[in-house]
Amino acid sequence: MRISMIFLYCLISLNQYVSLNQRKPSDQFLVFVNGERTDALRIANKYGFRLMYEIFPKRFVFQRIEKNHDRRNFTRTRTASLLARESRVLYFQQQQYNIRVLRNSTVTFNDSKWKDMWYFNLNTTDVIPDQGFLRAWSKGYTGRGIKIAIVDNGVEINHPDLITNQITELAFNFMDGTTNPSPDSGASHGTKCAGIATAVANNGHCIVGAAYEAKFVALKMMDNIGSTSTSEAGALSYRINDIDIYTNSWGPVDRNGFHRPDSIVLQALENGINQGRNGKGSIFVWAAGNGGPDDNCNCDGYVNSIYTIAISGVGYDLYSAHYSEPCSVIMACTYGSDDLEYFVETTDLNGQCGRFTGTSTTAPMAAGILALTLQANMDLTWRDIQHLVVQTSKPHNLKGGIWKTNAAGIRYHEYYGFGLMDANALTEEARKWKGLPKFRKCSSILQTVNLSLNTP
Ligand SMILES: *[C@@H]1O[C@H](CO)[C@@H](O)[C@H](O)[C@H]1NC(C)=O
Ligand SMILES: *[C@@H]1O[C@H](CO)[C@@H](O)[C@H](O)[C@H]1NC(C)=O
Ligand SMILES: *[C@@H]1O[C@H](CO)[C@@H](O)[C@H](O)[C@H]1NC(C)=O
Ligand SMILES: *[C@@H]1O[C@H](CO)[C@@H](O)[C@H](O)[C@H]1NC(C)=O
Ligand SMILES: *[C@@H]1O[C@H](CO)[C@@H](O)[C@H](O)[C@H]1NC(C)=O
Repeated sequence: MRISMIFLYCLISLNQYVSLNQRKPSDQFLVFVNGERTDALRIANKYGFRLMYEIFPKRFVFQRIEKNHDRRNFTRTRTASLLARESRVLYFQQQQYNIRVLRNSTVTFNDSKWKDMWYFNLNTTDVIPDQGFLRAWSKGYTGRGIKIAIVDNGVEINHPDLITNQITELAFNFMDGTTNPSPDSGASHGTKCAGIATAVANNGHCIVGAAYEAKFVALKMMDNIGSTSTSEAGALSYRINDIDIYTNSWGPVDRNGFHRPDSIVLQALENGINQGRNGKGSIFVWAAGNGGPDDNCNCDGYVNSIYTIAISGVGYDLYSAHYSEPCSVIMACTYGSDDLEYFVETTDLNGQCGRFTGTSTTAPMAAGILALTLQANMDLTWRDIQHLVVQTSKPHNLKGGIWKTNAAGIRYHEYYGFGLMDANALTEEARKWKGLPKFRKCSSILQTVNLSLNTP
């Protein structure tokens, strides 16, 4: 009794071992025939094989025609011993299936909202154009090594999707002069922006950031009352050699005429592009504004600065998002909520997941894309980045309004700029980019005209 039980145990464990490691026999044979193709063909026919192809001279691949071949080890059959005795057959070997993985590396995540993140989870076969995230990420462009400042009303720094992707030593609160960037009660805006740009991936919680391996720096320049020009300028010029990208989802009140930032703020922008990133220039990304078709972002002195990159929004239906403003200074767009069905998912206060809308979402998404771009080529200057955005953004079939061709021969749209951003194209082109000629500034004599301006 005892002996038979031990025997049974051995049998079971042997079976388990075999089933885990067994390689399935194939119906293909490598046959070394000392002869020509005609010799191989004759031998194949004689023993019930089909000659498939010749790998190189004398090495032929035979396929066994007999049914149920994979149930038997051919080497132990009578046919095998006859084949082995053929004078021209120097060697033969039944093939087995090799276990191989496809390196197509479809990126997928276990974050709870991943399946709802339609704007990332697209590929070239989908009906709406993709922003190239899956392809860029699968090549390792995830923002690693890049720092993005969230210039906003504070960030919930211990949010589970944000806690490990930030640089707490660099955080600053420009409203109270402390290093605590926590938002005022109920102020979720900055927390939502931070998630879109850099939320941690694969932690099972909420979302995946556009640059999920970049780090963010929370710079609180606004509280529940507002900002000051010093808090704005302070944030935009903070640690300019440490921070690469400053994402800004704020500005003057929409549909309210012209706004010129205070001179200290304009100086901060100019100082950033000249001195930031050790002379390569800070990257300032800006939400184009939420005034909708009745507004015009040319009137916003932050957005229309040549030192900022203005980003608008397009919905899942490929029409301009209803809040998005038209103007000539828009550089490009990213996907945004259409507020009906296709939302942008993000991080919210109290460790929650949330939804977000407006160009406040499209700017941090663009900032994330530019983090992938800088990772691909750290030498890019602020001007290189702008040129790359122009050349790689795609008009696709984004609808509404008119696509015009500018003097440089590039298509342009007053709602979408040069089109939908493409993380894959940006990272690919960034690697090859040779750099631009020197910056030239042209000016003309100032002419005064006495005309009234119709403000929107
Ligand atoms: C068939 O049996 C031989 C001898 O036992 C062994 O070397 C060979 O790997 C086996 N082939 C397959 C396909 O199982
Ligand atoms: C692309 O999308 C199609 C349809 O949604 C899907 O079947 C396919 O697996 C996707 N491919 C990749 C590489 O994600
Ligand atoms: C590669 O693509 C196939 C089918 O398109 C899919 O089943 C497989 O999971 C993918 N491989 C990886 C590593 O994601
Ligand atoms: C998510 O995936 C990562 C990486 O594969 C893994 O380490 C982690 O445990 C997973 N988390 C959950 C909650 O499934
Ligand atoms: C501008 O035009 C208005 C009316 O046409 C006139 O009253 C005003 O004096 C002009 N101003 C200047 C500086 O020419």
